[in-house]
Amino acid sequence: MPLIDHLLGSRTLRKALWKFWYPFLTKRLHGEGVVFLNYAYETDPPLGIPLAPEDEPDRACVQLYHHVGTLAGLRGRTVLEVSCGHGGGASYLTRTFAPAAYTGLDLNPAGIAFCRKRHALAGLDFIQGDAENLPFADGSFDAVVNVEASHCYPDFPRFLSEVARVLKPGGHVLYADFRFSESIPAWEKAIAECPMEVAGMRDIGPCVIRGMEQNSVRSQELLDRKLPEFLHGLGRDFAGVKGSRVYNALVAGNLSYRSYHFVKR
Ligand SMILES: C[S@@+](CC[C@H](N)C(=O)[O-])C[C@H]1O[C@@H](n2cnc3c(N)ncnc32)[C@H](O)[C@@H]1O
Repeated sequence: MPLIDHLLGSRTLRKALWKFWYPFLTKRLHGEGVVFLNYAYETDPPLGIPLAPEDEPDRACVQLYHHVGTLAGLRGRTVLEVSCGHGGGASYLTRTFAPAAYTGLDLNPAGIAFCRKRHALAGLDFIQGDAENLPFADGSFDAVVNVEASHCYPDFPRFLSEVARVLKPGGHVLYADFRFSESIPAWEKAIAECPMEVAGMRDIGPCVIRGMEQNSVRSQELLDRKLPEFLHGLGRDFAGVKGSRVYNALVAGNLSYRSYHFVKR
């Protein structure tokens, strides 16, 4: 079993790993203008949504946020994004769907500092914090967005109960993430037992495969340049490069990538 899988098996080590990895990545990617850290999304035929010229190079990653952002209406709502990464999705959703206010939270302090400099928009702010201990009062938000991050959380049920706590009654969760086959029963159990209802679920694996394929050449070039050689294998998995372990697992059906819409009753 690869070392990475052992690390992911231990809760304490898992949090320590992400606490180290993402700030490391933010520093390594300095100056590259990388504002998305997800596997991306493309439909067949292509989604073809109109984008601002500055979003065009990130089209496939933007489209994952577009898909998630249309799971429930965000216009005029107070929105929390848990694990906003480098803030590209927070910026796109704020510009496109006009929420009343949008707060992006992430564990990575270097990522949050980057977001504050890069995405200066009215109604958009960023805060460092932990998905399992959200620094907000009960009932603070109308909607919570969470994209490709919950696989990092050592205690996924605790994240779901924190999300339910900070949501107003009737509030929405717009969620997308993946799990390897062996982790799917625990994922589904946590969702079935959480204090929210599933209002919709979609297997978006085929769209994510197309997204990974669109980004593969660019991601490979970036990781070749920015990561030390001993991290290239890991980098290929994180970027979902065609032929990587994660890409192959998704193609073979050993990994499920889904979007969910939950509602707090
Ligand atoms: C794959 S990246 C996705 C980032 C962003 N959602 C995107 O699509 O570009 C996963 C993110 O989860 C964040 N993360 C990991 N563990 C976390 C935790 N316990 N609380 C908050 N954020 C966390 C990481 O710092 C990283 O930014």
